[in-house]
Amino acid sequence: MHNNRTTITQFIIEEQRQIQGATGDFTSLLNDIVTACKVISNLVNHGALVGVLGSAETDNVQGEVQKKLDVISNEVFIQSNEWAGHLAAMASEEMDEIYPIPQKYPRGKYLLLFDPLDGSSNIDVNVSVGTIFSILRCPEGVQNPTVEHFLQPGTQQVCAGYALYGPSSMMVLTTGRGVNGFTLDQNIGEFILSHPNLKISADTQEFAINMSNMRFWEPPIRRYMDECLEGNTGPRGKDFNMRWIASMVAEVHRILARGGVFMYPIDNKNKDKGGRLRLLYEANPMSFIIEQAGGMSTTGRERIMEIVPKSLHQRVPVILGSKNEVERMISYHLAEQ
Ligand code: AHG
Ligand code: MN
Ligand code: MN
Repeated sequence: MHNNRTTITQFIIEEQRQIQGATGDFTSLLNDIVTACKVISNLVNHGALVGVLGSAETDNVQGEVQKKLDVISNEVFIQSNEWAGHLAAMASEEMDEIYPIPQKYPRGKYLLLFDPLDGSSNIDVNVSVGTIFSILRCPEGVQNPTVEHFLQPGTQQVCAGYALYGPSSMMVLTTGRGVNGFTLDQNIGEFILSHPNLKISADTQEFAINMSNMRFWEPPIRRYMDECLEGNTGPRGKDFNMRWIASMVAEVHRILARGGVFMYPIDNKNKDKGGRLRLLYEANPMSFIIEQAGGMSTTGRERIMEIVPKSLHQRVPVILGSKNEVERMISYHLAEQ
């Protein structure tokens, strides 16, 4: 047998067959997203060889500014997804305004939100980066969606996923029926199901937080971290390990693989903005994945997926991962009030 492996397309089609009334629209949309991620993966893999890194070649001879990889990735996403008739509009971390589907193309019933290149501070040092996306339904009867139609709580997501461009390129997806991971076979250009039904362990001894912000933290985070750092001689009675990749995609992927907690809390430095990470492009899709894998996701004070967004680029505090640790952090926030 040379072809007993499940491709991502086959997986999506088989999932869709179980949904009554499904038209194939969604399968086709996901295919276009997968294609975009393969293109970005290819660019990231070739890096300096295709001139997509950093700002070394900022101006060309005509005085045009050279594109950086997050701008290019944004364009790749738009081009791959605007033409097929599945979307009414898109929104991206890299665009100030929403992107309505141009009039020359048919409009569809979904809204696509994305962070085309997450962790882009890592790109020039050849450390993992990724793409995060979220799919919402365009409200019934709306032909020309505006920002307000994107402001749906995360619980309304139809699908969320990320592509990780690491030692292997991977795609991890949820449509609300668990979480599945696919690895890109470069030779045939297909994502193959490699990590079925991912689950996050309830307990962990590993945390991810940018420790350089310690002096800005609020008391509940400080308490939690102090207790972890006291290790087996402190109240937790066990030693903790730390990781910080500065790439949320890589961080979430590690948590899916071996448990852990990830925090980008609100602190005195980012308070004015409401936090560091963006609700619609980062926090909501990752929360959907984490919850579907049995983990938890909160701001410390409320479930992230229940927040009713007020603006497109809204930021939120994020605490997610292994259930028992996230619950502990929620209890520390409650104790504070
Ligand atoms: P982006 O590259 O899309 O702006 O996102 C980067 C985010 C996230 O991936 C990561 O967890 C965090 O910013 C890194 O923050 P620090 O620079 O504070 O380490
Ligand atoms: Mn990001
Ligand atoms: Mn980004």
